[in-house]
Amino acid sequence: MTKDKVLIFDTTLRDGEQSPGATMTHDEKLEIAELLDEMGVDIIEAGFPIASEGDFRAVSEIAERAKAATICGLARANYKDIDRCWEAVKHAKSPRIHTFIGTSPLHRAIPNLTMDEMAERIHDTVTHARNLCDNVQWSPMDATRTEEDYLCRTVEIAIKAGATTINIPDTVGYTAPVESADLIRMLINKVPGADEVIFATHCHNDLGMATANSLAAVEGGARQIECTINGLGERAGNTALEEVVMALKVRGDIMPYETRIDTRKIMNISRRVATVSGFAVQFNKAIVGKNAFAHESGIHQDGMLKNSETFEIMRPEDVGLSGTSLPLGKHSGRAALRAKLAELGFDLADNQLNDVFVRFKDLADRKKEVFDDDLMALVYQNDSGA
Ligand code: KIV
Ligand code: ZN
Repeated sequence: MTKDKVLIFDTTLRDGEQSPGATMTHDEKLEIAELLDEMGVDIIEAGFPIASEGDFRAVSEIAERAKAATICGLARANYKDIDRCWEAVKHAKSPRIHTFIGTSPLHRAIPNLTMDEMAERIHDTVTHARNLCDNVQWSPMDATRTEEDYLCRTVEIAIKAGATTINIPDTVGYTAPVESADLIRMLINKVPGADEVIFATHCHNDLGMATANSLAAVEGGARQIECTINGLGERAGNTALEEVVMALKVRGDIMPYETRIDTRKIMNISRRVATVSGFAVQFNKAIVGKNAFAHESGIHQDGMLKNSETFEIMRPEDVGLSGTSLPLGKHSGRAALRAKLAELGFDLADNQLNDVFVRFKDLADRKKEVFDDDLMALVYQNDSGA
């Protein structure tokens, strides 16, 4: 089966950094950009150059250093933002300008533009961006709450003015998966010129549906997913890169799309982003959480020791882990205890194991997790007959 390509657009350094408190230093941004480039991200949104002198410098330096990725900067719908953005990205081997404006009724009210005035602004600013750069992305912010006719009209204007990618943001995470697919399908079917551009999906996670919405948009015809490492981003965050990429890899049987991501690099970059942003990853987070490949209960541990497919749908090595973890706690059974003790170099006779097991259960009832040192103490306690 030939698979369609889906481009991965990472916005950890722009939308991700917009999470209150997630600011990164210049060097940290360069480091994350290098890791994103190495892992095969197609487009890195490196920042919002007009936002600050620091952001401008970071985007410029990332653009100069990038080896394979396209480097993109964000700009509002005005010439000053777009010029500043171009100044920052222009040194990249492959630069992109991303310009946007809020098209929904709520967002149109902010600059107080009529529909016609906004349409003209879109035409002028996309034309200006395209005169500077061959690669222009345009986004109607809050697209999923924009009237269908107006959305079609503005998308058509942006395409005619030279946009090469049309991004459809679910800015406030309001959409449901079925709507997400239908919206992209509708735009591709209705808007003249739609077949000449790439449609992108940009989802926020306010209702916990960002990953599902992004994958549904791909089903509807989107060929670029916008996402961040660990789902970092405004409010409840953006679509998590690791989730969409692994979903496409694991469920290629029903979603025949491929990305360029080297998934074995996921864990390392997830940890670096957690460290530099100061946003710890929740333990039960899909793919990169501490417990994503950990099994504590006796039944699960016994199953995993016999055949890892019993309770894992992907291999931990595929996301850059050395293996499954079988932490010992009060739900664990003899098989896992024996395996752990063997790993620590203890080969106990059955009666010794039984004694250790009794004391292990007693300790596990009082402690969340029983660590290697605890186990060793239990074994030595046994040896000394204490
Ligand atoms: O969520 C959003 O609408 C955005 C735009 C700037 C693309 O981040
Ligand atoms: Zn966003």
